[in-house]
Formats: sequence, C-alpha cells, structure tokens
Amino acid sequence: MKQPHSLVQSFHGAIGIQDRMQIFHQTPVTIWLTGLSGAGKSTIAFELEAHLVSLGHACYVLDGDNIRHGLASDLGFERKDRRENIRRVAHVAQLMNDAGLIVITALISPMREDRAMARDIIGRGNFIETYLSAPVDTCARRDPKGLYAKARSGEIASFTGVSAPYEAPHDPELHIDTATLTSAESVARIFAHLRRKTLATAHHEAGA
Ligand code: ADX
Repeated sequence: MKQPHSLVQSFHGAIGIQDRMQIFHQTPVTIWLTGLSGAGKSTIAFELEAHLVSLGHACYVLDGDNIRHGLASDLGFERKDRRENIRRVAHVAQLMNDAGLIVITALISPMREDRAMARDIIGRGNFIETYLSAPVDTCARRDPKGLYAKARSGEIASFTGVSAPYEAPHDPELHIDTATLTSAESVARIFAHLRRKTLATAHHEAGA
C-alpha cells in the first residue's frame, strides 16, 4: 500500500552542496533544453556536454529518447504521460545537481505548466530554461527520424507540432534560433551564458 508522504522521513548526510562544489570546481545547474523534435536538442546537448567535459567539468545529458528506453519506458505521449516523464527527469536532474553534476536535459517538454513544475522541482536558481526554436516546417524538412512524415500521414498520433501542441516559453533564460545558428554557435551561446551565470571554474582553469 502507498504510504502517505508525511510518514516518510528525509535524511541528510554530513556532506553538503558546498563540499561537492569544491570537489568538482563548479556550480551544479540544469540546462533545460526545450523545443520541437528536430530543433537540435540532442545534438546541442551532447556537443555542449563534450565541450564542458573537455574543460574538466562533470556533466551529464538526460536525453528524452534515451530516457524513454528505461526510466520512462512505461510512458506514451499523451498529456499526462509527458507530464510524468518531465516530473521524473526533473527529479533525476535535481538529484544529479545535488550530487554536484551539471545536467543538460533534452526533452520536448511542450507545456509551460510542466516546465514550471520542473523549475520548482530543480529549484529556481539552478534551472536554466533554454528554448531552441525552429519553425515546424524547418524541423519537418530535417526530419532526422522520419517521424514528421509519419505524423503528417496519421501513422503517429499526438505528435508535437503536428497533432499535439507546443507552447513556446514566454521568458526563457536563453532563446536560441536553431534555424539560423549552427550547433557549434548554439553551444557557444549556452556556454557563454553558463560562464556569466555560474562563474564555473574548470580544473585546469583554476590551475588544479
Ligand atoms: S516529451 O514531450 O515527453 O518531453 P520526449 O522529449 O521525452 O517528449 O520524447 C520525444 C521524442 O520521442 C522525439 O524526439 C521523438 O523521437 C519521439 N516521439 C515518438 N512519438 C512522439 C510523439 N507523438 N510526439 C513527440 N515525440 C515523439
């Protein structure tokens, strides 16, 4: 039987976030990428991860497609399943931030309300909403997985941008137009923002 939350205690060890920040020489945040399928989320997430790791940062990508093979393998693409997917990923990101890691998420996360939930779970100060925008026709032309063609022919239901909504963020920390910028340019913009925001210090930059 499910226990009420009030009966479940939280325990904290002696190691705090300041200790972990010292170990990793960085401020753990979550860069929350949102945008249509084909907007470039996974490409940019993994390129940004490679760049951060090359500078000595401890960083990890939570990619929607990968997560849906395991942690969210029981979920589909209806409204409430997407919300549950985002809730789970947000909790994992929060735990990883708590462990000192920089997290990059790459989920469509189409609804404003659900992204607000993720922001609340992760913590306002740690959440960097990054909107990767490209017109749906541009994404459909790229169609790396052939899914737009299937959605437009009706083979796939509830497909974001075709038969399910995408609510663009009103006030994201970062807005990157991936229809005009290359992935390298997009990564450079996110990295510059990260430097300004967190003053992250890589190992070799700190002379360690
Ligand atoms: S989210 O809406 O719950 O955030 P998520 O990012 O995890 O979505 O998964 C999106 C990926 O699932 C897409 O990149 C695409 O490869 C695949 N996919 C399969 N069916 C759909 C669908 N109906 N709508 C959107 N993406 C789909």
